[in-house]
Amino acid sequence: MKYHKISNEFLSQLRAIVPEDAIKSHSDELQAHSRDYTEDLCFLPEIVVFPATSTEVAAIARLCNQHLIPLTTRGAGTGLSGGCLPVHGGVVLAMSGMNKILEIDTNNMQARLQPGVVNQELKNAVEAYDLYYPPDPASLGSCFIGGNVAHASGGPRAVKYGTTKDYILNLQVALPSGELFWTGANTLKNSTGYNLTQLMIGSEGTLGIVTEIVVKLVPKPTRKMLLFTRFAKAQDACAFIPALLKRGVVPSALEFMETLAVQIAANELNVNVLTDGIEAFVLIEVDGFDENLLMKDCEVIYEVLESYNAMETELAETSAQQESLWKLRRVMGEAVKKYATYKEEDTVVPRFELPRLFAKVKELEKIYGFQSVCYGHAGDGNLHVNILKNNLTEEQWNTELPKAITALFTFCKEVGGTISGEHGIGLVQKNYLPIVYSQSHIDLFAGIKAVFDPNYILNPGKIFA
Ligand code: LAC
Ligand code: ZN
Repeated sequence: MKYHKISNEFLSQLRAIVPEDAIKSHSDELQAHSRDYTEDLCFLPEIVVFPATSTEVAAIARLCNQHLIPLTTRGAGTGLSGGCLPVHGGVVLAMSGMNKILEIDTNNMQARLQPGVVNQELKNAVEAYDLYYPPDPASLGSCFIGGNVAHASGGPRAVKYGTTKDYILNLQVALPSGELFWTGANTLKNSTGYNLTQLMIGSEGTLGIVTEIVVKLVPKPTRKMLLFTRFAKAQDACAFIPALLKRGVVPSALEFMETLAVQIAANELNVNVLTDGIEAFVLIEVDGFDENLLMKDCEVIYEVLESYNAMETELAETSAQQESLWKLRRVMGEAVKKYATYKEEDTVVPRFELPRLFAKVKELEKIYGFQSVCYGHAGDGNLHVNILKNNLTEEQWNTELPKAITALFTFCKEVGGTISGEHGIGLVQKNYLPIVYSQSHIDLFAGIKAVFDPNYILNPGKIFA
C-alpha cells in the first residue's frame, strides 16, 4: 500500500474538524508518541491529533482515508506488542482527552464510557456503587479501557472473572468511511447476526476506532484472602495449578512466579523476600462475600499445596499485606525491563500443559544459550516468558533468538495453545502468526480487514503482513 505524506491541504481540512491546539507536530510530542512499553522500539508519527468527541474521530478517519494517510490509534502506550507504534508514520490519534465515564447504570449493572478512561479510574468510580469491573492488567493504574479492548487484555483476575472480552457489551466504532455505528446491544445475550463486538475486541485498531464502550459490571466482592506460597521445585508449582482447580476452588488469582522474577521485583521495590532453596512462588487469592466460605476454600488450598510439596505459605490478611504482595507481582514486568535487555513472550497453553511448557522453556534455554525469567497467569495457562540478552552477541540475539521463539511457539501450538494470551500480536509477533494460523486463515483476516478498511489506513503493519 502506498501512503501519502501529510499535505497542507490535509492540515487545513483537519483544522476544520478539531481546534488548532488538538494538533501537535512539535518534536517533543512526536517523540512522546513514538514509543510504548515494548522493548525499545521507536517510530515517529508526522503529527499527533487529540480528538474530543466520537464525531471528530469519525471525521478524522474519513479525512485520513480520503488522503491515504496512515492512522494509528493510541491509548496509554502501555502495550507490549508494539500495537500503537506508527510504523508507517502519518497520524497518531491520541485518545487521552476522551476520558469521561458517561453513565453508571446501577440497575442494569453496566457503565458507558469513552475509550481514554484509565482502568483503575473505572474501577474506583463503580466501587462507589459496590460494583466491580474485574479485568486488571498489570498496568491498570495507567492503561486505558480502549487499549484493553484493542488487545483483549487480561490480568490476574481473569482466572475467575475472564478477560476484557467478557465485560464488553457494546462498542461504538468509527470507520474509515466516516460512519459511526454500535456493534451490538447493551444486553447480556445477543444472537442477532455476526458478533462484531467480539470481532473488534483484540483487533488492535486495525478495523475501526472504538469511540464509546459499554461494559458489564458485577457486584464488588467484600472479602479477600491472599496466600503467598514457596515451592522448592517449579515443576511442583506448575502441576499444583490444575490440581487445585479440579478440586472446585475458583481462585480470583492464581499467579506463578519464578524465583528470579521475584528477586528482580523485590530489588526494584527495595524489599526483602526469602528465596533460598526456592524455585518458584505461587500467589493465590480467593474473594467473595462470606468469610467462612473463603476459609473453606483456603482449607482445600492448603490440602492441595501439601500434596504438591509446597514449602511454606504466608497468609496475607490485612489489605496492606495484600497490597504489598500485589505490588511485587505487578511491578515484575517493568522491573525485568529495567534489569536487562529482554524480549517478552506471552505464551498460553491449556493449563494442564503448564509443566511441559515450563520445561520446554528451560530446555530451549540450554539449547540456545539464553536466560529466561517466567511468571504469569498460571491459572489461565498463560506464561510470560522473558528472554534476557545477557552475554548473547547481537548476531545471536538477532538470528538465533527467533529460532528459539519459533520452537517455543511451535510447542504451544502442538499442545493446543497459542502465541499470545493477552498482549496481542501487534508488530513484534506478526512474523510468527503463520505458526498458529494457515494461509487460508490469514486470508480470512485480510478479507475482513478489506471490508472495514479497504485502503489499509488503520494501524497499518500490524497483526499480519
Ligand atoms: C503482567 C503483564 C506483563 O502480567 O502482562 O505483568
Ligand atoms: Zn500478564
